[in-house]
Amino acid sequence: MTPTEPKKIEPTTAPLHMIDLIRKKRDGEALDAREVGFVAAGAADGSIPLEQLAAWLMASWLRGLTLEETTALTLAMRDSGVKFSPARLGKVAVDKHSTGGVGDKTSFLVAPLAAACGLVVPMISGRALGHTGGTLDKLESIPGYRAGLTLEEFETVLGKCGAAIVGQTPDLVPADRALYALRDRTATVECPGLICSSILSKKLAAGLNALVLDVKTGSGSFLRKPEDEEYVAALMVATAEAAGTRTVALLTDMGQPLGRTAGNWIEVAEAVELLRGERPAKSEDLRELSLRLAGWMIHLGGKADSPEAGYARAEEALADGSARRVFFAIIEAQGGDTAVLDDPKGFHKPGATQVVTAWQSGFIANMDTTELGWAVQRLGAGREKAGDPVDPHAGIEFHARRGAYVEQGQPLATLYATNAAKLTEPIERLKRAITISETAPRTVPLVRRIFTREAAGEYLQRQPPAASL
Ligand code: URA
Repeated sequence: MTPTEPKKIEPTTAPLHMIDLIRKKRDGEALDAREVGFVAAGAADGSIPLEQLAAWLMASWLRGLTLEETTALTLAMRDSGVKFSPARLGKVAVDKHSTGGVGDKTSFLVAPLAAACGLVVPMISGRALGHTGGTLDKLESIPGYRAGLTLEEFETVLGKCGAAIVGQTPDLVPADRALYALRDRTATVECPGLICSSILSKKLAAGLNALVLDVKTGSGSFLRKPEDEEYVAALMVATAEAAGTRTVALLTDMGQPLGRTAGNWIEVAEAVELLRGERPAKSEDLRELSLRLAGWMIHLGGKADSPEAGYARAEEALADGSARRVFFAIIEAQGGDTAVLDDPKGFHKPGATQVVTAWQSGFIANMDTTELGWAVQRLGAGREKAGDPVDPHAGIEFHARRGAYVEQGQPLATLYATNAAKLTEPIERLKRAITISETAPRTVPLVRRIFTREAAGEYLQRQPPAASL
């Protein structure tokens, strides 16, 4: 070193202080991998106070995370707990995860469909997040269902049923467990970098061989800008592939709730109807998307030569009742009372019910699905703060879907709430969310675009990486 050269400072060995990292992020600087790792580890072991984590989340939401920060956070969150290894089960491990939607209950179909086709599905899911519903909250509407299994129990259920659906635990992705719940109550959900790291940390910790991502687009998506949706889809595929997991992302329509129900128990009941082989017209989009996603899972898992052949195998598993039997077996193995699945209507006991009718005749031209999601949460299906109980029976059943023609006075939706006082705000939100007009809306494809690893690679080459996500 010549005397004029400045002495190199080694920032990586200096002790870190959360207050400095918050300030850095607040001022628009990027954190390095060690700093990001410090945040993830402190979230996981509780050593960083919640107010500091919340401040860092808000700074990240406002400033965005760079590509490097997103990758570092994904890996640090993955490594914040133990990693599950499904190799001992002797089957190919696959899963599906969505970026979050309203009425999105495809997990209850795709997990048993893939398991019925000879794959194993170690599904780590989440609770209600922002305006979107939570797979675990829906499953916990089944009396006795336990989402918090130990790793040993998780493996036992997987060995017995071929699929298990659990949540993050103090052992399994604890950093996501803490940050996920905190984002839900600090309005810091809709951040592409935080969404990407939250999803992939869980999926990579589950030791998957293959992953299908359902990236929601449209009015109910967290990622409102099409360029963000595409970028996050491509980024997640590339990141998961680089970590050794075969991955594909489907960009799918969330411009209206998926299927005809949004809530907790009513969503489980709708999925069970389809698993029984019934085909209600208003649930057809749910059936189709579930088969498309399962088709990809079965293909990437090596049980079909193409996603189309995977779709056909999934359809068989639906028709012959094998997927239904797997679903019932999972519920039973995780402590749930399957008797309620046999009598969905008998079990549904909402505290208050209100039918909302069309205020004019015309076409359902638009559904602001985020607003509808908030209506569902405020009926009692979601929580104000972590640990609040959710109402298993709260939710909305839609009687008309986007594009339908309705006569004035015709039922549009039935709202189920914990009590009558909880109906007022959701009714207002529902009325604000639905546009009835003289002209029919254009039809929107259910699957808008597919990012295979090749397509994601090409996209990321062409698209200059967003400076911050
Ligand atoms: N699903 C997740 O697990 N995390 C998110 O941030 C969004 C959807």
